[in-house]
Amino acid sequence: MPAAQFAVFGHPVDHSLSPRIHQAFAQQCGIELSYRIIDAVPEDFASAVRGFFDEGGRGANVTLPHKAAAFALADEHSLAASRAGTANVLTCRADGQLAAHNTDGNGLVRDLTERHRVDLHSHHALLLGAGGAARGVAWHLLDAGVRTLTIINRSPAAAAALADAIGEPTRVHARYWDDLASIGSYDLIINATSAGILGAALQLPFSVLDSRALCYDLSYGAAANEFLGWARTAGARCAFDGLGMLVETAADAFALWHGQRPATEPVYQRLRRQAA
Ligand code: ATR
Repeated sequence: MPAAQFAVFGHPVDHSLSPRIHQAFAQQCGIELSYRIIDAVPEDFASAVRGFFDEGGRGANVTLPHKAAAFALADEHSLAASRAGTANVLTCRADGQLAAHNTDGNGLVRDLTERHRVDLHSHHALLLGAGGAARGVAWHLLDAGVRTLTIINRSPAAAAALADAIGEPTRVHARYWDDLASIGSYDLIINATSAGILGAALQLPFSVLDSRALCYDLSYGAAANEFLGWARTAGARCAFDGLGMLVETAADAFALWHGQRPATEPVYQRLRRQAA
């Protein structure tokens, strides 16, 4: 019997670590699978996904810029995907229907709490950005117990819309980017903007950083460098990129597809060594 087919869709996507991560998990669990990269421009995304599943594909990871389109294509949606309005995992069910999941928020919280041993309950969090990535993690940070969540965005309407959608006015506040210099300091700052991916600068005053602050960029590699460099210069206690989150989100997708959650630490450590 041919190996079950999996893939990651994105654009650009050639440097995706997903094939390596899923093959490492599969080896660990004694599963044989095929996992390939499919680069699809936005206009071709829907037909490429349909073609993949029509030809027997079992599951797909979806990365930028297709996460909203993946959500729209699916027949059913997990709660996390519905809240975010985006999906990073598509799964073909036995009846042929497509199920959408979003494992980003869970991956972030696992990386913070299990790998980096952060107790989120004591933290006042500042979330930079209010786009798809921010929506993918906001509810999970609250569910994991952060005391307050302040969402800050260049265009204020998106921050206000996300805060309204969450609907916890005593814990969740929306602020404008222009307010940054006067909103005080935070001990958890999460960069969920696409500035690093776009190669654009983030204008951030050092005053937002509490002396015990932990900074986290949802991206990894070159895209995370500017924010993490800013965090270290500003005196952050810790500055983490999103490599651990990527491995945890992949493990959640693997568990959805194969019914077992692999050990993530050896895979994370290997990728970290290779990145160094
Ligand atoms: P993603 O799916 O990666 O979240 P997105 O939905 O397009 O992509 O959202 C991008 C986010 O990054 C938005 O919050 C955007 O702010 P605006 O809504 O004001 O555009 C934010 N962003 C992008 N470049 C930025 C920059 N240079 N400075 C600050 N925020 C930036």
